[in-house]
Amino acid sequence: MAPPGVRRRWIDCIAPAEGHWTPDVEPYGVSPTRNYFRLATHRSGVWLLAVHLVGGFSISYSSTGRQCLGTGNREGLDRSVTTYKVGLIGGDGIGPEVVAEALKVVEAAGLSLTITEYDLGADRYLRTGEVLPDSVLEELRGQDAILLGAVGPPVGSTDVPPGTLERGLLLRLRFDLDLYVNLRPFTGVPNALAPDCDFVVIRENTEGTYAGEGGFLRKGTPFEVATQGSVNTRHGVERCARFAFELAAKRPRHRLTLVHKTNVLTFAGDLWNRTVNEVASDYPDVSRDYNHVDATCIYLVENPGRYDVIVTDNLFGDIITDLAGAIAGGIGYAASANLNPARTGPSLFEPVHGAAHDIAGTGKANPAAAIRSAALMLDHLGEVAAAERVTKAVQEFIASTPDPQLSTAAIGDAIAERL
Ligand code: NAD
Ligand code: IPM
Ligand code: MN
Repeated sequence: MAPPGVRRRWIDCIAPAEGHWTPDVEPYGVSPTRNYFRLATHRSGVWLLAVHLVGGFSISYSSTGRQCLGTGNREGLDRSVTTYKVGLIGGDGIGPEVVAEALKVVEAAGLSLTITEYDLGADRYLRTGEVLPDSVLEELRGQDAILLGAVGPPVGSTDVPPGTLERGLLLRLRFDLDLYVNLRPFTGVPNALAPDCDFVVIRENTEGTYAGEGGFLRKGTPFEVATQGSVNTRHGVERCARFAFELAAKRPRHRLTLVHKTNVLTFAGDLWNRTVNEVASDYPDVSRDYNHVDATCIYLVENPGRYDVIVTDNLFGDIITDLAGAIAGGIGYAASANLNPARTGPSLFEPVHGAAHDIAGTGKANPAAAIRSAALMLDHLGEVAAAERVTKAVQEFIASTPDPQLSTAAIGDAIAERL
C-alpha cells in the first residue's frame, strides 16, 4: 500500500511468460512469450518494493534511486521499462531544433517518455500576450522532468520587451519550482582551447541579482534612479554550497573553489565566504580554494585544469559558464541541469546557450548541448546507465572528428546511431 498522501505511478514492465503474479502485481496482458504487468510504486518517501515472481527472479524498485532492477535469476528478466512524463518546452530560435535531436537520441537509448509539449515562448506571447499561465505552471509541476530548448527574442528586438520571457518564463520556473542548483559540467573536446578540462560549475539559481530586487524612481525624468539589488540568504547560499561540497566529495580530485568578488561585494561576498567556510568543516576531505571572479576568467583560459567544482552566485555563474563553454570547445556542447535536489517537483534540463536567432533555421545549431542536457535528465531520473550511454555516444561522436558542416539533424542521427 502507498504511504498516505503519496502519489502513485506505474512502471510498465515486461517479464517472461512463465512468471506468476503475486498480489502486488497487476497483470494487464499476456502474450505467447511475455507477460506484461504493472507494478505499483510511489513517488516519494524512502522505501523499497520487491515483487517476487515465481519463476526464479524478482524485480525491485527503489523510490530513492528510481530504478527498476531485475534481481535473482537475471536470465528470467527480459527487460523492464519505466515511462517518464516529460514536459517539453522547445521555445524560441534554435530551441525547438535542438530539443528534437535530444528526444531522437533519448528514444534511441531505449527510453520511454510520455512527452507533453508546451507552446511557450515569443510566438505565444506575441499571439496571446501570455508568458507562463498559472495553469501551465501547475501542469508542469506534475511532470517527472522538464526539457527546455531556449527562450528569448533576438537581441535588440523590440516586439518582446527584454526580460519578458527570460524572467517571466525561465526564471519563474527556476524560482517557483525551487530549482536552486544550476549544475553545468564542462569536459573539453579535441581541438578546444582546453581539451582536457573537466570541471563542474554549481551556480546558485534562485537568488543574487536575479531575485529582482530593485526598481525605478522618477523613471523617464532627468533625475531617474534605477537600483538592482543582490539578495543572498544564509539558507540559499548554504544549501547551494552543501550541494557543491557533496559533489566535490564524490569526484576524484575532491576540490572546491568558491568564485566571488569579496574584495568589492563586501556584504554578499562575506556571507558567501563565511557560509562556504562553515560548510567546509563538514567535508574535511575536500580541499577548498577561493578565486575572485575576474581572475577566474584568466585562469579559465590559461589554466582551467585547476578547477574541479566551482561554486558561485547566480550572475557570476551565468557569465563564467559561457566562458567555460567557449574554452571547452564551444557553447554548442555546454549542458545544464536546473535541479530541485529535494525532489519536491520536477527539475529542468536545458543547454547553456540561448535561442541563437542568428543561426535559427539554418541547420547550423549544434544539438550536442541539448543532448548532453537530456543525459543529465536521464541521470536525475535514475536512468544512470542510459545517461552514461548517451554521454559516451556524444563523446565518441566528438572523438570521430566529424565533418564540421554536419547539420543539426545529421549530428543527432550520428549520435543516435551509436546507441
Ligand atoms: P546565444 O547563446 O543564443 O548565442 C550566442 C552565440 O552562440 C551566437 O553567435 C549563436 O549563434 C551561438 N550559439 C548558441 N548556441 C549555439 C549552438 N547550439 N550551436 C552553434 N552556435 C550556437 O546568446 P544571445 O545571442 O545572447 O541570446 C539570444 C536570445 O536567447 C536572447 O533572447 C537571450 O535572452 C536568450 N537566452 C536564452 C537562454 C535560455 O533559454 N536558457 C540562454 C541564453 C540566452
Ligand atoms: C542562462 C541564460 C539565462 C540566465 C537567461 C536567459 C535568463 O543566460 O541560462 O545562462 O541568465 O540565467
Ligand atoms: Mn547565460
